[in-house]
Amino acid sequence: MLLHQARAAAKNAHAPYSDFHVGAAILTSTGEVFSGCNVENASYGLTNCAERTAIFSAVAKLGPTVVVKAVAVVNDREVPCSPCGACRQVIYEFGPDATIFFRGPNGWVECPITDLLPYGFRLK
Ligand code: THU
Repeated sequence: MLLHQARAAAKNAHAPYSDFHVGAAILTSTGEVFSGCNVENASYGLTNCAERTAIFSAVAKLGPTVVVKAVAVVNDREVPCSPCGACRQVIYEFGPDATIFFRGPNGWVECPITDLLPYGFRLK
């Protein structure tokens, strides 16, 4: 179900610079699903990845206490694509126990965020 939502979101990607369309969907502890796509910008560094778009959208709707339980990431080229470093840190902030689904070099991977981001930063 998360993969389905992520694929739908990828269709809305704004990716004129990379032409790499990414979609993500997250499941919250309240059972709600939020999706997001990458939104690029002519000033490249301002680009927002699909994962962060989905999480920020959940925070906008549910507030800062949102807990992310799972994240799924897809892309329109069906190539390996794990969350970038910045997204790993954002996922960790809202879901230190989250499970991440993404396409790895040898097929689909399901792993805890802490496998992708050991020693994630916490300001406490
Ligand atoms: N991108 C994502 O949205 N999520 C990822 O997990 C990897 C990369 C986007 C950022 C940029 O718009 C494009 O993919 C190429 O890097």
